Amino acid sequence: MANPPAPIAMLAELTHRCPLSCPYCSNPLQLAGREAELTTEDWERVFRQAAEIGVLQVHLSGGEPASRRDLEALVGAACDAGLYTNLITSGIGLTPDRLQAIADRGLDHIQLSVQGTTAISADRVGGYRGGFDRKMLMAEAIHRIGLALTLNVVMHRHNLEELPEVFDLAERLGARRVEIACVQFQGWALKNRATLQPTRQQVDRAKALVAEARTTRAGRLVIDFVPPDYYSDLPKACMGGWGTTGLNVSPDGQVLPCHAAQTIPSLTFSNVRDRDLGWIWANDPAFNAFRATDWLPEACRACDRVGVDFGGCRCQAMAILGDASLPDPVCRRTPGRAALDAALVAEGNAPGLDAAIFRRMGAIAG
Ligand code: FES
Repeated sequence: MANPPAPIAMLAELTHRCPLSCPYCSNPLQLAGREAELTTEDWERVFRQAAEIGVLQVHLSGGEPASRRDLEALVGAACDAGLYTNLITSGIGLTPDRLQAIADRGLDHIQLSVQGTTAISADRVGGYRGGFDRKMLMAEAIHRIGLALTLNVVMHRHNLEELPEVFDLAERLGARRVEIACVQFQGWALKNRATLQPTRQQVDRAKALVAEARTTRAGRLVIDFVPPDYYSDLPKACMGGWGTTGLNVSPDGQVLPCHAAQTIPSLTFSNVRDRDLGWIWANDPAFNAFRATDWLPEACRACDRVGVDFGGCRCQAMAILGDASLPDPVCRRTPGRAALDAALVAEGNAPGLDAAIFRRMGAIAG
């Protein structure tokens, strides 16, 4: 595509290191170790280049960004570049003093994740004893400092029943927004799909509860809800369309069109150590591979939804059908849907959480 539109958002994955062990981790199977991570100076350059090509907001993510000792400097660099800066954190590794320092550098917003609404349920999923209590202390500090807070909860078969308590917790912590994202089966999470996939009954109930809460809590709490893809009939426009609105930079500097793009073996990626971000956005073959809709099968190009979903998620087509150039198998208008339905039937009697494979990061922690 000649002259693609400017990207709006950049996900800066500062590190893959993480103290938690969530079985729904969507990071790739192959993680970048600490020694491979971009330096502070690399990130400063990337933030400046991002602003130059039109990026408005940066999401500092991981792994756990607080695992980086230079997080305060990185926040400052992103803010100094003129980017609206959001920190996505588990809260583990932060202290009230670090939070204050980050706020002083200009952080605009913080997104705090919890794995449940009680210490018992949350610490079990996160695989980190005492984690929930530490998160609550961080939430108090965030409130005291006056940072804008979104509470983020990944929901699945084993915690979706806690949804009403999630709304209560968000309000109690002073969050203006709660993001409830049902687990997306990318990366490590795919190993645990049979265990984590919610039932259709759970999803229907969750949708009803969200609709009710949006009415009863209007004006106090904004609720974002991402339902599980597998129970949808039509795909969503993943990333707003490949190479149209956003880009990700991995801890070791690879520039990705989406979070899970490394699962597509036919793609190779440019690195910010070698190339300018503006060149990569406009010219990199990985970004151009699925831009616009010319690459889609003819039936999809003629579909009335092609300008709505752009063929859906490339990584889901890869994960389910083994071919990233096929339409997203969520789409009931395509033959690939049968594979998704078969997976749902096969996973009807899901094993308990004890059967989940937790992600231990010891090998790359440090
Ligand atoms: Fe890669 Fe959807 S996650 S296109």
